[in-house]
Amino acid sequence: MKRFELGDLQRVLAIEQSSFAEDAWDRKLFLQYHRQCPDLFLIAKVGRGIVGYAITCVNSRGAELASIAVHPRDRRRGVAKALLDYTGSHLRAKRIKTWRLTVATENEPGIRFYEEYGFKRTRLVRRYYGARRDGYSMRLDLIA
Ligand SMILES: CC(C)(COP(=O)(O)OP(=O)(O)OC[C@H]1O[C@@H](n2cnc3c(N)ncnc32)[C@H](O)[C@@H]1OP(=O)(O)O)[C@@H](O)C(=O)NCCC(=O)NCCS
Repeated sequence: MKRFELGDLQRVLAIEQSSFAEDAWDRKLFLQYHRQCPDLFLIAKVGRGIVGYAITCVNSRGAELASIAVHPRDRRRGVAKALLDYTGSHLRAKRIKTWRLTVATENEPGIRFYEEYGFKRTRLVRRYYGARRDGYSMRLDLIA
């Protein structure tokens, strides 16, 4: 696990394309997150290769998981869980109480992954992903 650096961008973009296809974020958006949330823009490595990333931003309401993806070839090996564990330990150390995210209602694997991790659905957000696609807000309380 390490912080994102500019040299990682091509590989992150490839993971993004293979994970989100037409919804993939572009270079500009990743660079914006790198500027705004550099501390918890994390890269997961297996051997020398980058296999996944996660971005969490901290604001006055708590923390927000902006995105997470693992290359399809490297899924179901605990990579995303390791990214959340690493991020979560940093958030707890900073005494941040809540971690939020929004996931598309149709993204069943994503929802299962978050629920398995302990996030709870809090509400339905209509048209979060454009005209016809809704999202769920989810929340994990970091400090009981
Ligand atoms: C969601 C995603 C990040 C999970 O990454 P991953 O590295 O495969 O997840 P992990 O191996 O850490 O999974 C941990 C646990 O979550 C659950 N889980 C993960 N993927 C799952 C799936 N496709 N279906 C059901 N449960 C799943 C399982 O309980 C899993 O444990 P197990 O493999 O021992 O059963 C990955 O599937 C992905 O990149 N998807 C496309 C991008 C995306 O949808 N991101 C989330 C929305 S922003």
